[in-house]
Amino acid sequence: MITKKSNSPFTMYATGILVICLFICNPFAMKAQTSIKPGITNLRTEYKTNPVGIEVQQPRLSWEITSGRRDVKQTSYHIRVASTIEELKSGNNLLWNTGNVNSGQSIHVLYEGPELNSGQRVYWQVRIQDDKNIPSEWSEIVYWEMGILHISEWQVSWISSANEQDVSASQPCPIFRKEFILDKEISSARVYVTCLGLYEMELNGQRVGDEVFTPGWTSYNNRLQYQTYDITQNLKTGKNAIGATVGNGWYRGFLGWEDNHNTYGNKQALLMQIEITYKDGNTEIIGTDATWKTSTGPILMSEIYHGETYDARLEKDGWSKAGFNDKDWADAKIIDHHKDILVAPEGPPVRKIEKVKPINKITTPEGEIVFDMGQNMVGWIQLKVKGSPGTTVTLKHAEVLDKEGNIYIENLRAAKQIVQYTLKGGKEEIYEPHFTFQGFRYVAIEGYPGDPTLDDITGIVIHSDMPPTGNFECSSEMINLLQHNIQWGQKGNFLDVPTDCPQRDERMGWTGDAQVFARTACFNYDVAAFYTKWLKDLAADQFDNGSVPWVIPDVLNRGGSAAWADASIIVPWTVYLSYGDKQVLKEQYESMKAWVGYMKEQSGEKYLWNTGPHFGDWLAFNTTRSDYPGATTDKDLIATAFFAYSTNLLQKIAEILGKQDDAIKYTALLKNIKNAFQKEFVTPNGRLTSNTQTAYSLALAFDLLPEPIAKKAAERLANDVRSFKHITTGFVGTPLISNVLTEYGYTDLAYMLLNRKEYPSWLYPITMGATTIWERWDGIKPDSTFQDPGMNSLNHYAYGAIGEWLYRVVAGIEIDEKKPGYKHILFQPHPGGGLTNAKATIHTMYGIVGSEWEISDGLFHYQVIVPPNTHATVTLPNAVLENVQEDGKEMKNVTGIKEVHQDGNAVSIELGSGKYRFSYQWKEE
Ligand code: BGC
Repeated sequence: MITKKSNSPFTMYATGILVICLFICNPFAMKAQTSIKPGITNLRTEYKTNPVGIEVQQPRLSWEITSGRRDVKQTSYHIRVASTIEELKSGNNLLWNTGNVNSGQSIHVLYEGPELNSGQRVYWQVRIQDDKNIPSEWSEIVYWEMGILHISEWQVSWISSANEQDVSASQPCPIFRKEFILDKEISSARVYVTCLGLYEMELNGQRVGDEVFTPGWTSYNNRLQYQTYDITQNLKTGKNAIGATVGNGWYRGFLGWEDNHNTYGNKQALLMQIEITYKDGNTEIIGTDATWKTSTGPILMSEIYHGETYDARLEKDGWSKAGFNDKDWADAKIIDHHKDILVAPEGPPVRKIEKVKPINKITTPEGEIVFDMGQNMVGWIQLKVKGSPGTTVTLKHAEVLDKEGNIYIENLRAAKQIVQYTLKGGKEEIYEPHFTFQGFRYVAIEGYPGDPTLDDITGIVIHSDMPPTGNFECSSEMINLLQHNIQWGQKGNFLDVPTDCPQRDERMGWTGDAQVFARTACFNYDVAAFYTKWLKDLAADQFDNGSVPWVIPDVLNRGGSAAWADASIIVPWTVYLSYGDKQVLKEQYESMKAWVGYMKEQSGEKYLWNTGPHFGDWLAFNTTRSDYPGATTDKDLIATAFFAYSTNLLQKIAEILGKQDDAIKYTALLKNIKNAFQKEFVTPNGRLTSNTQTAYSLALAFDLLPEPIAKKAAERLANDVRSFKHITTGFVGTPLISNVLTEYGYTDLAYMLLNRKEYPSWLYPITMGATTIWERWDGIKPDSTFQDPGMNSLNHYAYGAIGEWLYRVVAGIEIDEKKPGYKHILFQPHPGGGLTNAKATIHTMYGIVGSEWEISDGLFHYQVIVPPNTHATVTLPNAVLENVQEDGKEMKNVTGIKEVHQDGNAVSIELGSGKYRFSYQWKEE
């Protein structure tokens, strides 16, 4: 999300996004709906608005309810589905008509109408009744459309370019074209398209769709996505031409290390099927076959890591328009490749989301002209240039300047991140690269004809187009910058798969990183569909023995590391909690079982997992001090702790899915693992064999210790934090420590860690100018030198996992595991750390949830927003019931409040939906 106060000159890419952003940023200021009639909004099918080309036979339908009164519940819904808008409106010939269903369910309602055919579009709407028997109007009409459901319906062939023998990764990108004549009037047309590599498609001279990095990155040998575009408007009666450029991408470009390429194959190929329905009802299919022509164009090299070389003089004007002379082009070759792996995308596509303008132009001591984008971003530069033909402009991308002020590229390792554009000359030229992205804040420019200005450089930010959902803000500007950096870490690393980093020769779906950041990710953006897709790849790439690869999609062929592979259970569990999504648990169930089965196998009779290579508490605090070499947590302890935790989650999941036998089995297994853990790693006094913050955080967060040993262990953790006065955790302990401190009553210490500005801490990088989260606590050291360039990403989201504590504890928005997806919200704000206010909003499946507190003039003001059809429990800290007022009124007889009681030094309030504002005298505890 864009911080409003930041002086970086961000401009939103699309005004639509801006509107959503403002709405999310400021719901507290929203004008309340005054009508008491419930309204319906934000209808989604499988998390999407009007999806085209889906394959889910029974999509789940969700809607949000609006209302001008408090304590609103849905008591029934009525959904109708039809093939046409007219039928839907008239109620005649409906495909599915639920009638009034007495149910409060307003999210994930399963479509149970007749099975749908490929390409079939259906329209739907819903109306509800609330608990006062007030009906809503029928909602707006929305739709979904099926993709190609059966392999036999793919009637086209894979084609490849003629000179496809060259197996060196960098060669000019092939282009493909085909002309065709449509002699009747068109009623509708779709194109279904995919490739081996990455494609950009054009129709009659115009780019089709606004997605980039299509067809996306999946477990290519098992699942290859195709996209569906509505091209009704792009086609015309008469002559048409279609074309596509294909790049190497993840399929056959450089990926991984040591010049590895051709990971999935050495031939780029294209598969495209156009289905046309004419006004007379006839249909026609046109698609890739041996009649296509192929050549190369201006892209001489395009590699994800290395950048692009583009010679505009080689552009073939009009190549995707009818009438272009392609007589010199070669015939495309039909090749054999699977079609049974084709799947419709479930996650959001990658798009250009924002534009960033540079804030400065500098000349470095080495004499380079460098633009400062003001933000470490992911995407590319759009270049504006005018000059003579053949002039080459070179852009070099770097995350940071070194202490002398020169661009620093050592941490990119083998990734070149160099874009070269050769001008065709004459008019002004505007260029953006195609099948590559760069992670950078600084761009060095060479060879520019004339003097480049800020106006000539525009940063294009790309990422998976996940709807922004959350925002956190408080009275500390530094913490707000931390939140900003967390969100930019998410943008930069949610590029179709959750990656570790976006700049060096890596950019892979590291499971551990994904696991630790998942909860934070679900606050900031709607990532349900994004993870649903990635988890399918995880299951597809899982090894036969149940082990889970280190990276998904798997390109390293290694796996089984504790805390990394547990993404297979923790991520679906997190999606379930955050979105109330049971389906993802069902779909991943076998994969989860297999992973726990693998750990059981590894641990043997003793239930101790002490084998196998593990990453451990990756990048934990390290020193050269002889009395404290660093926070090394025993890997066996970590592995056994995760074995227990994943088993615990799986046992809960088995219960949720009604698999009682499994639940009993995993309960027994968990008991054995806990016993083994306690015997091996815990002394009777609550000391762990690894006396580290991570070890205590794991044992406590995963509930591995019996009371009262747990309390003693928590004291030890607290003492460790007190004595070091800083965090010592790595990837594994970082998402846990603050939550554990809060759970055991040490929120003050968690705040101390949060507010600390010296290394190691979350705020230290900000004092060094960070605009994203770093891979290491000291990526740039206090003396401004860099950590080991072999592994020093300055845009790595893992340590951003503190984000969840900001939402859950500081702002105090917590999920009730028994009623996930914010059906029952637990508001538990924790003022402290010298903050005078904090505010968070999350656009949940039910609507906006808000929590905002402020201490002013000796009063504590607390405002919550509870969306219709949900309810909440508010815990007011440090409060005496008699002193609490809601909107200036005594607590009795406040509409929406059902129950209030004093609970120690807190006041607990049960309430229904609505917006409430509590105030009371504030005394520090
Ligand atoms: C990645 C990490 C990852 C790790 C495994 C690194 O190269 O960047 O984020 O989790 O390897 O330990």
